[in-house]
Amino acid sequence: MPESPPATSPLAVVVLAAGEGTRMKSRALPKVLHGFAGRSLLGHVLAAAEPLAAAHTVVVVGHRREEVSAHLSEIAPSAVPVVQAEQHGTGHAVRLALEAVPADAAGTVLVLLGDTPLLTPQTLRALAEAHTVAGAAATALTSVLADPSGYGRVVRTPDGDVARIVEHKDASDAEREIGEIASGVYAFDHALLRDAVGRLTRDNAQGEEYLPEVVTILTGDGHRVAALTADADETAGVNDRVQLAAAHRVYNDRLLDAHMRAGVTVVDPATTWVDATVTLDADVTLLPSVDLHGGTHIAEGAVVGPQVSLTDTTVGAGAVIDRTVGKQAQVGAGVTIGPFAYLRPGTRLADNVHIGTYVELKNSEIGEGTKVPHLSYVGDATIGEQTNIGAATVFVNYDGVHKHRTVIGSHARTGADNMFVAPVTIGDGAYTAAGSTITEDVPPGAMGVARAKQRNVAGWVARRRPGTPAADAAERALASDPSDEGPPAS
Ligand code: UD1
Ligand code: CA
Repeated sequence: MPESPPATSPLAVVVLAAGEGTRMKSRALPKVLHGFAGRSLLGHVLAAAEPLAAAHTVVVVGHRREEVSAHLSEIAPSAVPVVQAEQHGTGHAVRLALEAVPADAAGTVLVLLGDTPLLTPQTLRALAEAHTVAGAAATALTSVLADPSGYGRVVRTPDGDVARIVEHKDASDAEREIGEIASGVYAFDHALLRDAVGRLTRDNAQGEEYLPEVVTILTGDGHRVAALTADADETAGVNDRVQLAAAHRVYNDRLLDAHMRAGVTVVDPATTWVDATVTLDADVTLLPSVDLHGGTHIAEGAVVGPQVSLTDTTVGAGAVIDRTVGKQAQVGAGVTIGPFAYLRPGTRLADNVHIGTYVELKNSEIGEGTKVPHLSYVGDATIGEQTNIGAATVFVNYDGVHKHRTVIGSHARTGADNMFVAPVTIGDGAYTAAGSTITEDVPPGAMGVARAKQRNVAGWVARRRPGTPAADAAERALASDPSDEGPPAS
């Protein structure tokens, strides 16, 4: 059997991203900056091409080019933007792009569209290889669609090569019956492409220089144009927000499939959404309604969900997180959180911490084994190990101008309904009394009490609220046990 030839790197990858994208109906963003799974459409296309390691990557920008170029310099600083000030068509765009490629360099030019985000590196590599193996002047990436309307149709020669590609708007009724569409993605011989884009006409329904006309020019010159057929899921173009959502669904399913094959349990793939950059260890379990973003990492054995949203958050092995939102937080191994917690940036939970219901944390370090079980706000705090924070505690970190820190030691037991008015320090092994507003430091081992002493005004209800159900209830209770009234008020 002949060996398959080595993958050859293309001379250039050209991405067309100058169009207006009117069908997105977006004021906020140019089309190619819309995206999903943590990447723009343009970012997905560049990520698919990146492993091919082309010598030149050229992105044609036009409509709202300042924004697109600024984004490009963030996500792919080595890519060269080329300006197409007026969009006269995909062929015109490629002609301009080639100005950024050395004119006499030999090799393959891959042309990609900025709005075709589902292509995989494997398919692009297969296209480049098929092109080289066929020795073709051009190789079109095609696919067969149940509903091909809107796309360019592929007209084949009797021996299976590509004769020409006809745009939907220019196609005859018979041509519109063709189910095989041009994805808009091509591999070209550089020299032949450069020659052909110089000879494009605008003799078509849209009065544009069509890139697909290059195919007609090449076959007319007697060159061979081949095709590689790809899965329809890969070649889908995103022109409007319905297609954007559909592309996201396909891409998300792909990511989840890969995670599941690598040992992650995803209970409900339909309601689980992950960014391309999220990493999950084996034996992680994702319960329904989970979305994970950015650099989020979840370690082995952790159970996340239902209803958890994490962004740039790391979760340690075996942690259990229920109905929680986390942003830029670090969660140690064996931690339990929720239901209904909010971890804001700078939250760092050591191993085996417990964060309970209705607890918000921000910029706070919580030591190993410490518990914040109920209804509390922990802002700008450092808490030691094995400490228990009482229910309904507020770390009063903000004086209206500045933020201050509260430090609580290890093995402390703070009472319910405490206010820690920062800056304040509670020593190791200290206690505080329930209902205290703590404004002064509590030394190690001391009990901090900061609340008014209680007094009972006996008989107040009978005197001031006579005839009410409260007064009647009190009267019955006192009749059965007069000692309940307690000492008279002082
Ligand atoms: C294009 C193809 C069609 C193919 C389809 C696949 C042409 C004429 N048509 O149609 O054969 O089936 O893609 O999705 O090539 N662009 C520029 N400059 C321009 C025009 C377009 O950079 O002057 C960019 C757009 O930003 C977009 C891409 O090229 O990213 C495709 O343009 P679009 O107008 O979406 O072409 P389609 O009508 O989808
Ligand atoms: Ca398109």
